Amino acid sequence: MSLHLGRTQFGNTNNIGNVFSRAEAESLFNEWVLNPKLKVHMLQVAHLMKCWAAEKELLDDAGQWKWEMAGLLHDADWDQWPTLHCKKIIEHLESNNIDPEIIRAIASHGPIHFGVEPETNMDKMLYAFDELSGLIHAYSLMRPNGYEGMDLKGAKKRVKEKTFAANVSREDIQDACQRANISLDDLINFIIPRQATVL
Ligand SMILES: [Fe+2]
Ligand SMILES: [Fe+2]
Repeated sequence: MSLHLGRTQFGNTNNIGNVFSRAEAESLFNEWVLNPKLKVHMLQVAHLMKCWAAEKELLDDAGQWKWEMAGLLHDADWDQWPTLHCKKIIEHLESNNIDPEIIRAIASHGPIHFGVEPETNMDKMLYAFDELSGLIHAYSLMRPNGYEGMDLKGAKKRVKEKTFAANVSREDIQDACQRANISLDDLINFIIPRQATVL
């Protein structure tokens, strides 16, 4: 079954700057996503996106919220409508006249699956954070002290170990780093301390 979206244009440029309020986004999140593990994943990716927008892109609060919102909602339809991932959330955001940059980032968070190339920095970082965030979280769950004392070396070892979190595509991680022009080391070092605050 293919999740290819069959298009590369999303939303409407007249809607640039239109976002959900945090309360609106959270109510959608809570209504659509029931699986607590998936919720943690989405909250972690949202936080990483916000941190990157603030620290690396130097965006203001409104810009940071766009990045965070893309992370918060990127898997919103995965739990209840996996065969419609990520078509359903995209159509929902389009019908609510949400900023096309947010919709595009969500549409390109898995280029192999959805057939949409990550183009903007927001697109590329969502793709880069997505799978690596999950792998690092899985690693924290097998450590006696979770994120405490976790370092690059240990995390990298898990990435190399193909049987660990085997569902996480190593090819996607490598591809995402290349596209975002960031080394795996830098990406891991960015993720560990920030993700540790969202459990
Ligand atoms: Fe996804
Ligand atoms: Fe995800």
